[in-house]
Amino acid sequence: MPTDLCTRLGMRWPLFAFSHSKQVAAAVTRAGGLGVLGAAQLTADELEEQLAWMDQQCGGLPYGVDLLVPGDYDEGAPDRAGFIAQIPQEHRDFTQRFLAEYEVPELAEGYEFGDVVEAGHLPITGNHLYTPADVWPCVEVALASNVRLFANALGVASPQILDGFHERGVLVAGLAGQPRHGEKHKAAGTDIVICTGYEAGGHTGEIGSMVLIPDMVDACDGLPVLAGGGIASGRQMAAALVLGASGVWCGSVWLATEEAETPEVVKRKFTQARAIDTVRSKGYTGRPARQLSTPWTDAWADPRNPETLPMPLQGILSAEPQVRMTRAAEAGQGRAEEVVGYFVGQAVGRLRHGRSVAEVFEEMITECDATLARVRSGDIAI
Ligand SMILES: Cc1cc2nc3c(=O)[nH]c(=O)nc-3n(C[C@H](O)[C@H](O)[C@H](O)COP(=O)(O)O)c2cc1C
Repeated sequence: MPTDLCTRLGMRWPLFAFSHSKQVAAAVTRAGGLGVLGAAQLTADELEEQLAWMDQQCGGLPYGVDLLVPGDYDEGAPDRAGFIAQIPQEHRDFTQRFLAEYEVPELAEGYEFGDVVEAGHLPITGNHLYTPADVWPCVEVALASNVRLFANALGVASPQILDGFHERGVLVAGLAGQPRHGEKHKAAGTDIVICTGYEAGGHTGEIGSMVLIPDMVDACDGLPVLAGGGIASGRQMAAALVLGASGVWCGSVWLATEEAETPEVVKRKFTQARAIDTVRSKGYTGRPARQLSTPWTDAWADPRNPETLPMPLQGILSAEPQVRMTRAAEAGQGRAEEVVGYFVGQAVGRLRHGRSVAEVFEEMITECDATLARVRSGDIAI
């Protein structure tokens, strides 16, 4: 099963893990895959600290980092205060009424609208604005680190980023939800395209993995493609490899593991949820992102309510509510458990509570191997 990409990256199995939890990323690398630390919620100092920790934990084995660097950001974009000023009062009032309805307590006194909120383990997008001032210090930390893979979620990386990582022998990956985005990545010099199917947790496109994987492989014409979206078992991994992917990129499958920093209350909700319980909603970031379906996502889909704002405004607006709902749900306050949500894909129905990353990893690889052996032997009828 190891692919050429495994050899290039020095990993054993073509299983990549996206996670905001450093413990998950390190455990996947140690198991023979490649853990990629999702760092969108970290400051440059926090990122530096976490990458140093990864170095210690991974003992020379490969790991990566994922940042949200917009390909088309505008050097003249407003600063944080400028963005905050663009958020209509109607939207602020609406979120406050919503939180009151679900009896979600306020943050500690002194909080002013738009303040950066202490998000801890939460992948809160609104704290960072993805302007050069926010993102560049993190890119610089990544450039100076020992990562072997840099992934960028928001479009094609700039030549500066591509050249910077390439000079250091680091491969650059880009996420893409359509074959034409894959073509753009290839033309720009991206090394790996991660195709994210409709089923995926977090920001995702509109094409399902079954259609997207082979179309992306063909569009990228020789460039390695990782399949992301809906893969949480060895059979699904085998299918992606059979469709031409050079590996799989999984985010949701780790969210309920022992190592994941997902709040306990959310882990419980995940393990009770099924594929039908997720929805693509713009409610947290302003762009469609798959997550648990909750009264919050329902509210933003209701035409009687204000429309979601574009990125990054919706992220700033929702950062405080997201922290409040999660804290209150963890403390069992009001109806917060009902409203608390989290990004997760349609594979949520496969998540089980309390297993270690190593167990999940081993089960996927064993099942993938057995499935591919059956395909090779022609014994594929069930
Ligand atoms: C909780 C969560 C947060 C995510 N945040 C990011 C992110 O910050 N950057 C990114 O490139 N992708 C992010 N993603 C998407 C993943 O990179 C990946 O495309 C997706 O998880 C794959 O589909 P799956 O969830 O079905 O495994 C996130 C996914 C989840 C589940």
